[in-house]
Amino acid sequence: MPQDFERSTAMEMIVRPRRLRRTAAMRDMVRETHLHPSTLVYPLFIVPGTGIRTEVVSMPEVFQLSVDEAVRECATLARLGVRAVILFGIPETKDSVGSGAYADNGIVQRAVRAIKAEVPGMLIVTDVCLCEYTDHGHCGLLEGDRILNDPTLDLLAQTAVSHAEAGADIIAPSDMMDGRVGAIRHALDKNGFQELALMSYAVKYASGFYGPFRDAAHSAPSFGDRRSHQMDPANIREALKEARLDLDEGADILMVKPALPYLDVINALYRGTDVPIAAYQVSGEYAMLHAAARNGWLDLDLVMEESLLAIRRAGASIIISYFAKRFAQGRSLE
Ligand code: PBG
Repeated sequence: MPQDFERSTAMEMIVRPRRLRRTAAMRDMVRETHLHPSTLVYPLFIVPGTGIRTEVVSMPEVFQLSVDEAVRECATLARLGVRAVILFGIPETKDSVGSGAYADNGIVQRAVRAIKAEVPGMLIVTDVCLCEYTDHGHCGLLEGDRILNDPTLDLLAQTAVSHAEAGADIIAPSDMMDGRVGAIRHALDKNGFQELALMSYAVKYASGFYGPFRDAAHSAPSFGDRRSHQMDPANIREALKEARLDLDEGADILMVKPALPYLDVINALYRGTDVPIAAYQVSGEYAMLHAAARNGWLDLDLVMEESLLAIRRAGASIIISYFAKRFAQGRSLE
């Protein structure tokens, strides 16, 4: 057989995916997954006082904000196209029953009212948990060193109702007590908030990646850990069980947390349910990318976009991320 003929047959056999990667326009046209600032939720840490903007040491570009500064931040976010924030409060004082969490004029309740008054279009998600408000840093009431489940439910439900009264749009319980979604749904309905959506931290793992958050929110447990209520990182079948329970109890959106180390879990919930899936790219995921970038070891904007895309591709339509603002700023420059 002539040599030329052999070569052209071999070349005909090559399948050429590179044809679709030739130019930027071509790559954009065949892109399967898209990110948009409107699907991102930006976490805000609210502290007492006025005029306060304190950068969190382990989370570059993330600030603890007083209520007035949080309002300004929301106006900026809205201009950038970020349409949702999730609020965490650091109260003036803490006690054993976390009363700051469900106080009418608590720090989150004040922030919700102020943001709603000044930036009414901003969608406000509130995190419901006691750990930022208890002097022991645990997510529920204690008896000795045991976290009590059922007595904690009443306080979580009260917290949710007080957030609703302040004007929150979505309630996000992150405590991982059994039965909390049902208890909160019931309390909201009873108080006339039937239309308020619940985004449950359905699948929240006992993760080492929450470290920087606990600095930012002053919520580290004073003893022990959260393994008696948060999930074992080794389990995924149990994630489906948690998801099913929360849906049965009335959750509208299911969240997986952390995100990047649990893409398989995001995907399992995406395939196994018919509700929107949210994923929380947590403080440690954010901090490690920043730390590597500061050392010159990674390009921050590249890995930010790549990690967000991965979470989206796995099946999360909503991503809670400390990168939301930076991502939107990048978009507005394009
Ligand atoms: C509990 C809560 C935590 C986070 C969100 N809600 C901390 C925890 O469970 O210890 C962590 C978020 C993050 O790491 O960014 N209120």
